[in-house]
Amino acid sequence: MRLESTNILDDIDNYGEEKVKEKLSTFSCPINPKIEDFFRNKAISFSRGKLSVTYIVSDLDDGQIVGCFALTHKAVLIPPEHFSKTALKKLERFARLDKASGQYMASAFLIAQFGKNYGVDNGKRITGSELMGIVNDILVDIQRRIGGGLIYLDCDDNEKLRKFYEDEHFKKFGHRYAIEEEQEYIQYLRFF
Ligand SMILES: CC(C)(COP(=O)(O)OP(=O)(O)OC[C@H]1O[C@@H](n2cnc3c(N)ncnc32)[C@H](O)[C@@H]1OP(=O)(O)O)[C@@H](O)C(=O)NCCC(=O)NCCS
Repeated sequence: MRLESTNILDDIDNYGEEKVKEKLSTFSCPINPKIEDFFRNKAISFSRGKLSVTYIVSDLDDGQIVGCFALTHKAVLIPPEHFSKTALKKLERFARLDKASGQYMASAFLIAQFGKNYGVDNGKRITGSELMGIVNDILVDIQRRIGGGLIYLDCDDNEKLRKFYEDEHFKKFGHRYAIEEEQEYIQYLRFF
């Protein structure tokens, strides 16, 4: 498998919105319908509006989408309890302690959406770890341009997903309830 990641804003410039829409309609994720709905129906408008920017990872051999993710940045409040002294020292490089609340305030890169295309035949699917490697390459490039050192994400409260992110060196530091979605998320952070 030869992989290529593209920013959909570049894809729209190069091939037009209709072609990108057509390509995104092949993204299938029955295991997480919210993610499927996002990439099929919202990714273009979110990217155009700069709310988050979607990247498509394709297999160059057959042009199929193997995975997608959306990146942006976000202000986060981080309670210190879950971090060791060494980790707090690292955190303090990128976060400021708000004395009133006792929490650290930081701006972090946010992996807003992340999923592989289950429409691809099983033997040709990307692994989650490979997809995260591509996110990492892009964030390292952005970090080099503008700085920053924290990656944040909200994880559905699901044991397998939690294990996946923990294996990818994300550290749980809290949870939040999203009123509009009526859903509880586990909050994860990684230094890089
Ligand atoms: C997260 C992800 C990229 C990890 O990829 P991976 O490491 O290659 O893992 P797999 O796809 O093999 O999934 C591992 C296990 O987690 C389960 N799983 C994955 N996403 C799940 C979800 N959203 N809800 C419930 N179970 C899920 C899979 O069914 C699989 O279970 P099994 O071991 O019993 O077969 C991939 O599972 C994925 O795209 N999931 C759907 C999208 C998603 O939920 N994204 C995260 C939102 S926080």
